[in-house]
Parts: sequence; structure tokens; C-alpha cells
Amino acid sequence: MRELACIILAAGQGTRMHSSLPKVLHEVAGLSMLGHVLAAAKQLGAMQNIVVASPANAEALKQAVGDVTIAIQDQQLGTGHAVMAGSTTLNNKQADRLILYGDTPLLTLETLQKMVDAQKQHNAAVVVAGFRYVGPTAYGRIVCDAQGFGKKIVEYIDATEEERANNLCNGGLMLLAGDVADALLSKIQKNKRKHEYYLTDIVALATEMGRKTAVVECDEEEVLGVNNRLELSEAEALMQRRLRRQAMLAGVTMQDPGSTFLSYDTHFAPDVVLGPHVVFRPGVRVAGGVLIKAFCHLEGVEIAEGAVIGPFARLRPGTKVGENSHIGNFVELKNAHIGKGAKLNHLTYAGDAEIGAGANIGAGTITCNYDGVKKSKTVVGEGAFIGSNSSLVAPVTVGAGAFVGAGSVITNDVPPETLAVARGRQVNIAEWSKRFRKK
Ligand code: UD1
Ligand code: CA
Repeated sequence: MRELACIILAAGQGTRMHSSLPKVLHEVAGLSMLGHVLAAAKQLGAMQNIVVASPANAEALKQAVGDVTIAIQDQQLGTGHAVMAGSTTLNNKQADRLILYGDTPLLTLETLQKMVDAQKQHNAAVVVAGFRYVGPTAYGRIVCDAQGFGKKIVEYIDATEEERANNLCNGGLMLLAGDVADALLSKIQKNKRKHEYYLTDIVALATEMGRKTAVVECDEEEVLGVNNRLELSEAEALMQRRLRRQAMLAGVTMQDPGSTFLSYDTHFAPDVVLGPHVVFRPGVRVAGGVLIKAFCHLEGVEIAEGAVIGPFARLRPGTKVGENSHIGNFVELKNAHIGKGAKLNHLTYAGDAEIGAGANIGAGTITCNYDGVKKSKTVVGEGAFIGSNSSLVAPVTVGAGAFVGAGSVITNDVPPETLAVARGRQVNIAEWSKRFRKK
């Protein structure tokens, strides 16, 4: 059995981001760029993931991503040097090495799988991923022999006019066979012009050794490297297009795909309908038959079959919305469990709350879950009715089937089937208005 290790290059300074956050930790569709790359590597079955960091960003990268080996590249002496730094931390020196960049969030599992397959098929020492680009561009060029195997890669600045006219560009991903990887890496010489160790030199070295370099072609989009925030926004747009497409082809209706923003992990059952301007942050699962109307924002939420959400609802982490529940306009839920068929239709905040099945929460009801020191829980029983504009001061329980009069401030538990009214009594003073106007 061959083993696969993944080495992800991320030692670049990312100065053009103008950010205190390392470049590869900037997010695309709710996940860091490095997270996207790691997810693909894991799906491919890599036994070890090595992130090559700089002394400056190593700590932040270690904090951000669990379950990886951090290798520190002391000085940035080029992509070949970075791979050598990463290789010193390999658990299995014979493992095949997949080289990825931490700033290419759009790479796909399919392309990586093709690279693994090409290596096996051709017993290739090296597999590179290329893409076709027509027009001027500064990418390295892959020079192939008559059979389509790579002979060498020339960097743009070192290339002749003829080599620059070749439109097969080097995407940067590379797979090195475990049996020759170290032998090849150790032969890379410092480039005379840039004083760097080019990883790309490895193709010519393999050719000299009489070993093959297979070439896999992919879309340019997949190897799009993000260097500044403009490119970050372009990567985001491409990722959103991809996620929307997947969701729609799997049975989600989007009235306005262009204003629907998904996260990398948004999960929909078939037959969900989304109005325009709905934003999904990470951790949302939506069951079938759910309707989410315009202008909703959801994060860390589970929504059961047939629920109707919005317009203008904000659902925050820890929230579960039960089957056929209605969450209406200007309702905010945080860590709230809403029972089957319950209705919170207008202007409500429910935080750290449990709302029983079939309960009706009147307009303007607020759970007062925070006393300035700690958060407390509000429980509303099944079928209870909370009159409009009530405050439920937690910790407090309103029993099943109980009623709360409108405008109440409920500070004590309400037993089941009981009416609670907690507000100033109304006083009517006859003829008062006339006397007032005379004065
Ligand atoms: C590289 C390829 C080029 C290819 C292009 C695709 C080489 C010599 N050239 O060029 O053929 O067309 O990618 O995008 O490999 N890094 C380190 N340590 C270093 C140097 C780089 O970790 O010492 C990391 C960077 O953070 C980056 C990645 O490696 O994520 C690529 O480095 P970069 O300098 O952008 O390579 P290119 O010059 O674009
Ligand atoms: Ca680059």
C-alpha cells in the first residue's frame, strides 16, 4: 500500500493583503483558504498533512488548524526549499508527497484524484497540474515531449519567447513519488537569477534520471492563487457560484442565486425554497420543504421539515427550529429550541430558550436571558400563549397551556394552564380630558 502525505506551502508573507491575519487564514465561503486545501487533502486520504509556515506565521497557523504538522521554513528560499523544509517532518519518508499551496482555495478533489491516478498509471516520478491560458501571463510554462509527458518547467522570467508562447501553464500543484522524492529534491540547485530553489526544476531532473512526469490538466480557476483582497473577492465569487450550482442541482430553488450566500458546509435537503438576499454562515442544516423568505441571516442552525423562516429573521448559533414552525419578521433566535408548529411571528428575541410545540409567542416578546453577569434559560411549555410585548425574565418557566397577558414582565414561574398578568392595572378617570382642556 502506498501512503500519501500532503505538504502545503504557506510561508509567504502575504504583504499585499495588508492584514494582521496570515493570508491563508482569510476566509472563502466561511472557511479559511488553508481549511479548504486541508479538506481536499483529507478527502483524498492523506495520512499526514504538513503545513510549511514561516517563523512569523507558524503560531497563528498552528492555532487555527488542528491535526496537522507545522514545519517551519526559516528563510524563504523558494518553493523547492519550502518542500525540503516540509519533508524533514514526514512520518514516512517513503510516502508520496502531494505539494499544494495554502492560498488556492478552489482546487478540487477531482483534480487531485486525477494526479494520484496518473502517477499510478505511468509510474511517474512527478505529476504536475497544468492549465491552458491564452494571452500574456507570468505563470511558469510546462514543456512537454511528443507523448505529452513533461520534460521541464521554465519560469516565466527565465523563459525564451518561444517558451512563453506555449500556453500550458504550471498551476503549481505537484505530486512526487515517495521512492525518488528526496533524491530529486537534493539535486535542485539555487537559481542564479532569483537565488531561490525552484521546485519546478524537479521536472528536468526527473527527465535526466529517465523518469516520467505526467501532466494533468485542470481549470485555471482551480489554481487561482489569492494575493490581495481583490483576488480574495474573486475567489469568493467563484466559490459561491460553485456552491449555488451544487445546491440548485440538488433540489434547492433560489429565487435570486446572485444574492444568496452559502457557506462551504451549508446542507440542504431537496425541496428547500430560498428568497433573495439570504446569507448562510457556517453550520446550517435545512430539511426538506423549508421556505426561507428574503433577507435572513443564519449561522449554526438546524431547521426541520416544513418550517417557514423570515422575511428578515436572524438565526444564531445553537438554534433548532422544529417541524412546521413559523419564525417571522424581525425575530432573533440564539441557542433557542423551537418546538414543532410553534409560532414566533413578529419582533421577538428568544435567547437560551426552549419553546414548546404549538406555543404562540406574541409580537415583541423578549426573553431577558442576561442579567449582566450570567445567561439564564427561559422555558415555555407546549401550547402556551405569550401575549404581545411581554418580557420573560430568565430563569423562568411558563407551564404548558398557560397564558401570559400582553405587556407582562414575568419574573416568577407560571404553572401550567394558568393565566399570569404582570403589569400595572388600568385606571379610567371619567371626564378627565374635558377638565384638562379647560385649564
Ligand atoms: C510558482 C511556480 C510557477 C507556477 C506558479 C503557479 C515555482 C518556482 N514556480 O510560482 O511555475 O506557475 O507557482 O501559481 O515553483 N512559498 C513558501 N516558501 C517559499 C516560497 C514560496 O512557502 O520560500 C509558498 C508561497 O507562500 C506560495 C507558494 O509557495 O503559497 C508559491 O510561491 P510563489 O512565490 O507564489 O510562486 P510563484 O512565483 O507564483
Ligand atoms: Ca504565486
